[in-house]
Amino acid sequence: MSAFTAVDVIRVKRDGGVLSDAQIDWVVDAYTRGAVADEQMSALAMAILLNGMTGAEIARWTAAMIASGERLDLSSVPRPTVDKHSTGGVGDKITLPLTPLVAACGAAVPQLSGRGLGHTGGTLDKLESIPGWRAALSNEEFAAQLRDIGAVICAAGSGLAPADRKLYALRDVTGTVEAIPLIASSIMSKKIAEGTGALVLDVKVGSGAFMKSVDDARELARTMVELGGAHRVRTVALLTDMSAPLGRAIGNGVEVTESVEVLAGGGPADVVELTLALAREMLDVAGLPDADPAAALRDGRAMDVWRSMIRAQGGDPDAPMPEANEVEVVRADRDGYVAAVDAYAMGVAAWRLGAGRARKEDPVSVSAGVVLHKRPGDPVRAGEPLYELRAEQPEKFPSALAEAARAVTLAERPPAPLPLVIERVE
Ligand code: URA
Repeated sequence: MSAFTAVDVIRVKRDGGVLSDAQIDWVVDAYTRGAVADEQMSALAMAILLNGMTGAEIARWTAAMIASGERLDLSSVPRPTVDKHSTGGVGDKITLPLTPLVAACGAAVPQLSGRGLGHTGGTLDKLESIPGWRAALSNEEFAAQLRDIGAVICAAGSGLAPADRKLYALRDVTGTVEAIPLIASSIMSKKIAEGTGALVLDVKVGSGAFMKSVDDARELARTMVELGGAHRVRTVALLTDMSAPLGRAIGNGVEVTESVEVLAGGGPADVVELTLALAREMLDVAGLPDADPAAALRDGRAMDVWRSMIRAQGGDPDAPMPEANEVEVVRADRDGYVAAVDAYAMGVAAWRLGAGRARKEDPVSVSAGVVLHKRPGDPVRAGEPLYELRAEQPEKFPSALAEAARAVTLAERPPAPLPLVIERVE
């Protein structure tokens, strides 16, 4: 007989109490084993969302989620290891240029990534646009690629934080994703279990992000930075703007193309700025503060690592991205300035076009998505293209056009520019 029952644990949180270490260890383990039912964990997750958790509870919950699976050992990698995690946004392809860039500067980047759900894209979906590229690596292949190339982006194996895998799927269908203690422990349990020595968090704020306010984003960032420190993973966070999509491309193949432009020394200014800002933070926490990521982008070293990294996972870095069959260009109906491109609405437009999925098992289109011809602050003349929608079937257009039209606002004057990096938390 166990010392606890699920109902007792739920009642403590429901009534605003504090769970003991033993209760947390028990409920996370019992849920992973199937001894606590989904409906009981749903009730507990809702009680946590409504009543919160103390710092000590969050730390113990995270440790219990790590302990539910394996913890990778990267001690055979001769370079300092450092990873980046973004809380997710629209057009957020930064992992693609950033991983090879940081590796080109002397660190090793163990990036275990996920797939997209809803209006946000997933790194693995984007990379799977590259013919032949393989997301699944064994733990041995993962460590060997880190040793040989210094950069790997792949799917997290099923042995890593299995409690989180189960709980995240449950939260997704019970309205409990938004609880800061649960988001922080979910993200940090996976990053700590992956074995990285240091971590930089890109906590997004704005319409296209989980966190709509700077205050909530700061609280999430502080919670995660503390959890990293408690597990001896040096962690810093940047709060960055996600009110507009990053760059011009939103979709899978189109985001790979834009990332390669950045690695070739071009690409949209905001993507380059954020890539370099995160690279500097990563190199700093990895103990390589004198490395020069801007030089590694300019002189092609980052591109060389990208090509090796893609080839090592079976991909052809020279293969052209598939073109969409159907393209719809939307033009400005008057002169003015682009006042806003709402990230959430444009993310939904790309999703409706086929770039994203509604359920975990849905396929995604390689060629579908949105390409912005104008970004917030750009002047525009009547008749000039504002954006184009790409799809495999024309019937995808009507609902995507409605969302995209909602996203873009024109005005007579340019908007006040917003900083991309809002705050740093360490
Ligand atoms: N990403 C995660 O991995 N977990 C969450 O809870 C939210 C975002």
